[in-house]
Amino acid sequence: MDHLPIFLDLKDKKTLVTGGGMTAARRTERALECGAKVFLFADELGTELETLANHPDFTHLRRPPDDEDMIDAVVAWGGSEDGDDQHLLELARRHKILVNIADVIEDCDFITPSIVDRDPLIVAISTGGASPILARTIRARLEVLLPATYGDLVRFVGRFRDKAMGKLKTGSERLRFWETVSTGPVTELFLAGDEAGATKQFESELEAAVTGATRPRLGEVYLVGAGPGDPDLLTFRALRLMQLADVVVHDRLIGESIMSLVRRDADRIYVGKMPKQHVVPQEEISQMLVRLAKEGKRVLRLKGGDPFIFGRGGEEIEALAAERIPFQVVPGITAASGCSTYAGIPLTHRDHAQACVFTTAHGRDGMLDVDWEVLLRPNQTVAIYMGLSNIQHLCKGFITRGADPDLPVAVIDKGTRADQQVVIATVSTLCEKMKDEQLEGPAMIVIGTVVNLRQKLSWYKTKSGIMHANYDSSDAREWLPEQS
Ligand SMILES: C[S@@+](CC[C@H](N)C(=O)[O-])C[C@H]1O[C@@H](n2cnc3c(N)ncnc32)[C@H](O)[C@@H]1O
Repeated sequence: MDHLPIFLDLKDKKTLVTGGGMTAARRTERALECGAKVFLFADELGTELETLANHPDFTHLRRPPDDEDMIDAVVAWGGSEDGDDQHLLELARRHKILVNIADVIEDCDFITPSIVDRDPLIVAISTGGASPILARTIRARLEVLLPATYGDLVRFVGRFRDKAMGKLKTGSERLRFWETVSTGPVTELFLAGDEAGATKQFESELEAAVTGATRPRLGEVYLVGAGPGDPDLLTFRALRLMQLADVVVHDRLIGESIMSLVRRDADRIYVGKMPKQHVVPQEEISQMLVRLAKEGKRVLRLKGGDPFIFGRGGEEIEALAAERIPFQVVPGITAASGCSTYAGIPLTHRDHAQACVFTTAHGRDGMLDVDWEVLLRPNQTVAIYMGLSNIQHLCKGFITRGADPDLPVAVIDKGTRADQQVVIATVSTLCEKMKDEQLEGPAMIVIGTVVNLRQKLSWYKTKSGIMHANYDSSDAREWLPEQS
């Protein structure tokens, strides 16, 4: 390692910067954020620096630095636009001040790293000056991994530091305790917005650590929506909880590309339901979640789409609430939204639909359990979940109740996934067209004139698993409504 990473306390310390442009502005900005007294040497200030000119800790000097300026200075940054910082370098070296000349690694006593700022949590990344761009790329990835509220979490935990230090005497006691706090319910409650609950939990965990009481640890349940299939559509919070869980209870709609993002050593329990074949009854799933949490496990209940939209998530957390098991719910992109977007069909549009109805198409022997009056309203889109097996009765229902036979329909099979298929027809032609299609589901049915917009707005296609971002007009015939 060529450089020792340290974090400098610059509060009220004299800091020198040369240059009037962007490089100098970045250094100045960061030093001021840390409470430094910045003296900037430049003939003119660029626009970025002008905005800092009124800062009480900022002094602009229209001359080069001299020996006297070096007195009591802690660090010096050379950021001159013309790249000539030889004079600053000589002064800094003579007065033994830490110096950094932008983009000249051999003239740097220290490196200015890329940082992820979750103040007071700071992550600094350096490539030893070899590749600042790579450092920035890594920074972007870390930005995604660390929730924006981590800074608040660090501040929250910091409030209890002295108390815990006072009560826990040995280093190993403290280590064990802080590990429990940072990976357990205290952190999760805080990140889920329940500061009062996190405080209560912290107090009780500290008490247990002090008395050495071995309390049975109550686990928790994360009810997480995994979206319709494309792993890129997971939320940051979903991904974090997927990495944390001890056991994952998942259903059929969760593909391997999403399951591969779950913590590697987490136990997997499949409770999927195949259509018309209920593998594990809902009541049993709910009780399983309760039992696993009571065993002290962090349980990830991973569901396709959004857990609260035709996902029975409400029932599962009712069972948890009744047993006072801590839980949190993470929304996911629901199939109607994900699939229609990947099919190039906006669910609402000023010229087509001012409303959108989400419904399911359950029913037996042609008797669909749907509210036809609601579905037939004009200027709306109807998004139908679980409708593939009843598609014939659905189309017939629309026509016999007076819908325009040319009303466009899209069936989106395995939406957002690499093997997505979209069939376009009208309520009167769909059934005939479906005879030639090999759709396996899951499938969304979208009914309404917004479907016609796909002709212009299609952007996602799959060919041998490859995604193409552009619409190829030669395909238009394939999915134009047959009647048009
Ligand atoms: C039990 S519901 C669950 C819905 C889920 N909670 C949601 O918010 O998307 C299952 C139905 O969602 C629809 N669905 C889910 N994922 C889909 C996908 N990738 N493509 C098309 N339809 C999908 C299908 O209609 C499927 O039958």
